[in-house]
Amino acid sequence: MSPGTLHIVGLGPGGIAHRTPAAADAVAGADAVVGYASYVDACADLLNDGQRIVRGRMGEEGARADEALVLACEGARVALVSSGDAGVHGMAARTLARAAELDANERPAIVVVPGVTAAQAAAALAGAPLSDDFAVLSLSDLTVPWPRVEHRLAALAASGIALALYNPRSSRRTAGFDRAVELLREARAAATPVVLAHDVTRPGEGLERTTLGALDPDHVTMRTVVLVAGDTAIEAGPWLVALRGTGADA
Ligand SMILES: C[S@@+](CC[C@H](N)C(=O)[O-])C[C@H]1O[C@@H](n2cnc3c(N)ncnc32)[C@H](O)[C@@H]1O
Repeated sequence: MSPGTLHIVGLGPGGIAHRTPAAADAVAGADAVVGYASYVDACADLLNDGQRIVRGRMGEEGARADEALVLACEGARVALVSSGDAGVHGMAARTLARAAELDANERPAIVVVPGVTAAQAAAALAGAPLSDDFAVLSLSDLTVPWPRVEHRLAALAASGIALALYNPRSSRRTAGFDRAVELLREARAAATPVVLAHDVTRPGEGLERTTLGALDPDHVTMRTVVLVAGDTAIEAGPWLVALRGTGADA
């Protein structure tokens, strides 16, 4: 058995207060910290001069998983960092799939350290809009063909379930979000509450409450998570809440 360990760490949405002690321990105790550059920067307060730091680029997730595994197989304690939860559109699944291909005797010990997701942190700012059933979708078509994204979104839009939309819109990738809004407007009322949560728990945090009918795509970036209320959502004073057991067919 390799003496190394690999912690696949969810750092939380950004702010240190929303990072778990287990995540902080895994990063501070590592010999090597590997991650997309801005995620490594998000845990800069935990790094020390003795650590090997590997800052990766967007689109090189496979190489990052391999590098983390190689270092751990060589005996290092490695922390591979993602934002939010590493198992939610993060590095965990890809890395575990690659680790499973290794000979069991060569494989390092692997621990997945959960984190607070952007969707959870955004929901908490708005109230409790995800407290009934909800679904999380990434609108990125970088690794998934767009028709599959659209198929899933259309089915979920018709279901009435609350949605958290990740990777919604970049400066170059705008058509997908426009189409997503079109699909949602076909399936749900224009008055459906929508929350645009920007940079949650980070400097510049902002929360915009709007509706599906009034939603302006120009307000949405890759630093936004979009919450679309489900059919059990109500406005309760200043809060948006989902009350299980209510709704049209309850
Ligand atoms: C690659 S996904 C990472 C998701 C992360 N693993 C999680 O569990 O929240 C990146 C997307 O997450 C959302 N996101 C991550 N952190 C955020 C934050 N602090 N505020 C708003 N959106 C955030 C944005 O939609 C962004 O485009």
